Amino acid sequence: MSGGVFKNLTSYGDDGFSRFLRRSFLASAGIDREDLDRPVVGIVDTSSDYTTCHRDMPKLVEAVRRGVLQAGGMPFVFPAMSLAEIQTSPSAMLFRNLMAMQVEESIRSQPMDAVVLLGGCDKTVPAEVMAAASADVPAVLVVTGPMMAGSWRGQRVGACTDCRRLWSSHRGGEIDAGQIEEVEQALCPTAGTCMVMGTASTMACVVEALGLMPPGSATAPAPSADRLRIGVASGRRAVEQAAADLRPKRILTRPAFENAIAVLNAIGGSTNAIVHLLAIARRAGVDLTLDDFERIAARVPLLVDCKPSGAGYLEDMHKAGGVPALLSILEPLLDTSVVDVTGTTLAERIAAFRARDGYVDHRVIRPLEDPLGPTGALAIVRGNLAPDGAVVKVAAASERLLVHQGPAIVVDSPAEATAKLDDPDLDVTPDHVLVLRNAGPVGAGMPEAGSLPIPRRLALQGVRDMVRVSDARMSGTAYGTTVLHCSPEAAIGGPLALLRDGDVISLDVPSGRVDVLLDDAELEARRAALTLPPPPERGWRRLYHQHVEQAHLGADLDFLAGGEVEPSAAGS
Ligand code: FES
Ligand code: MG
Repeated sequence: MSGGVFKNLTSYGDDGFSRFLRRSFLASAGIDREDLDRPVVGIVDTSSDYTTCHRDMPKLVEAVRRGVLQAGGMPFVFPAMSLAEIQTSPSAMLFRNLMAMQVEESIRSQPMDAVVLLGGCDKTVPAEVMAAASADVPAVLVVTGPMMAGSWRGQRVGACTDCRRLWSSHRGGEIDAGQIEEVEQALCPTAGTCMVMGTASTMACVVEALGLMPPGSATAPAPSADRLRIGVASGRRAVEQAAADLRPKRILTRPAFENAIAVLNAIGGSTNAIVHLLAIARRAGVDLTLDDFERIAARVPLLVDCKPSGAGYLEDMHKAGGVPALLSILEPLLDTSVVDVTGTTLAERIAAFRARDGYVDHRVIRPLEDPLGPTGALAIVRGNLAPDGAVVKVAAASERLLVHQGPAIVVDSPAEATAKLDDPDLDVTPDHVLVLRNAGPVGAGMPEAGSLPIPRRLALQGVRDMVRVSDARMSGTAYGTTVLHCSPEAAIGGPLALLRDGDVISLDVPSGRVDVLLDDAELEARRAALTLPPPPERGWRRLYHQHVEQAHLGADLDFLAGGEVEPSAAGS
């Protein structure tokens, strides 16, 4: 393989001139004829001062670059949109598809034989994997890795399960203003992504299970030497992948997705991974549905002891053996014929892991016969409030609330939530069901507002969980009995739009139901009187509003999801 820089020639109607100009301009960067003969590896740099989770990415870029050069490749680092989960308004999710489109077109339009995608923070990884699936150029993903755990007054703490736990203690009056300020300075002690099994860690583990990341690379902490070595190895690997023409669509098969869903359940992972995996699958031409999640959840128990479902942090999972250890335990439940970025089958990788001694710390990654929690950590519910399905993270819910009936208190937008729920005159009991609507993909870009705060009056009385129902998402680090991703959503006339305060809602997770106890005639009468919120006037938000699909389809844009995409142009 040679001459990667002459792929995807810029059009001047004279290919010789295009090559001549390309050589001239590359010469200005010190690139000579010998360099031009090498396979080109693009390196997607998503560093940003806003994305603190990518703080150490410049070092990782250098590590990948070194690996590419060692293997005889020519590295080209280029920037892509960076989505900082906490600094992006109203929600980074509103921009996942924009980033996916930008990365896809950057891969497609610039010359490269392979690409190394660097990401980490919640939406960056799914966006890059969606892009890689559509561009279908040999690709390897490297995450920045989790932060190390912090410490506050003798407690191990970390972002962001403890952020939520300690903030609700502050709301409940147990932690004063001075203490919460100390907590604030202790939650994020190093570079890296949230170090519990939130969305970032979940997506890292799930994408390793899909096969697009090198084995063992999901959990290595951001400041660790392992992380840098993973970068170097990934750079080398990308050059080999280019030579082997090992493309994402060969890796992203239906059995690979089923394995990834098994891992999602075993780690007690984020509900956000459901939306992301559905979107990635559709990009890869795999017909994955919520039913697949339900079916696989029913046979995979919770094995990994990480917050919010367990007690540990990602550094514990890494020391315990990481995803390779987990895959070796899950082997009887997996299809081990799938191939990953190393070109080997999962069966071969598990055999190699065992041959190296196969050490697993079973206190953190439990064996199948002694799980940390039951099967069914993620449940799908349907009913007249969610005909196309909704998601419940059973592992983060209160068991006593999984079967529950109570009157609704309806909040019409995320913006309205604080005012309504903090109103001291709000007539609310712990049996009420808090409903948030107009927070689905079309309504608001699907923010992580679904775990509505417990009304202040009840919080001060010590109430820590209530049933909540919404078309929003919830952070992977959050907990509570929440029915999420109700589809179709309120903003397109889904049934949540028809609810009124006081309507009785019935949740029955074991039976897979979420309903409002109203008859069809009443629902139809209300529907006839419904007016939908107007679309945004211009720009990305208007385009998004017009084209985003519902949560049960992955919330991708309709013109990006599905369908065969032509591969990147193959050369000059
Ligand atoms: Fe970036 Fe949690 S905010 S990973
Ligand atoms: Mg998150």
